[in-house]
Amino acid sequence: MLHTPPKENEMGKVLVVYYSLTGRTQLMAEYIAEGVRFSEYEATVKRTNEIATAEELNGYDGYLFGSPTYHQDMAGPIKNFLFLAHHADLRGRLAGAFGSYTHSGDAPAMVFDTMRYVFKMRPFHLGAFNLLEAKVGTQEGRRAGHDYGRTFGEELAQPWTEADDEDRESEPPESPSPWALT
Ligand SMILES: Cc1cc2nc3c(=O)[nH]c(=O)nc-3n(C[C@H](O)[C@H](O)[C@H](O)COP(=O)(O)O)c2cc1C
Repeated sequence: MLHTPPKENEMGKVLVVYYSLTGRTQLMAEYIAEGVRFSEYEATVKRTNEIATAEELNGYDGYLFGSPTYHQDMAGPIKNFLFLAHHADLRGRLAGAFGSYTHSGDAPAMVFDTMRYVFKMRPFHLGAFNLLEAKVGTQEGRRAGHDYGRTFGEELAQPWTEADDEDRESEPPESPSPWALT
């Protein structure tokens, strides 16, 4: 698939979908969306319960999915959302993931891997963005969110073909267990 940046006078669009129980990942979503807008892409922010069908996910240039880490896992509503997103046509679109955490911060990398290896999306070169919850409401946290979003928009503006990322399908992440067949 060939991704071309939007034409002049045509604004590209980014969709940010998040789940948040206590508001930190929501705040990250808002800062990241602000950062995307600095890059001159449009950003739409939705909570998982605002997306009812896979069709609602179609039509964006880039996607950023956010989940806090609970019990060393992604949040349940994000798991359900990813099952739904699997039916959307996201292949080749730019993918990023983010979330707030206190100590292990597993969720963003899990979400990012699903977007990359299952949905065959184009991985954002900065990878997943984890932010310690104590930093989310600080100036530093806000700046980090802006930087992640702005850089995402800048990367979207670059033309890209699947050949630019050939190892995406051939190199899965480290085997989850020593007994896994690779
Ligand atoms: C029951 C419970 C389990 C949690 N488990 C983890 C965990 O395994 N790893 C981690 O880094 N943070 C863990 N946290 C911390 C949350 O990730 C953190 O509070 C985060 O900021 C919540 O984000 P939210 O406000 O977007 O819901 C846990 C919090 C709770 C209440």
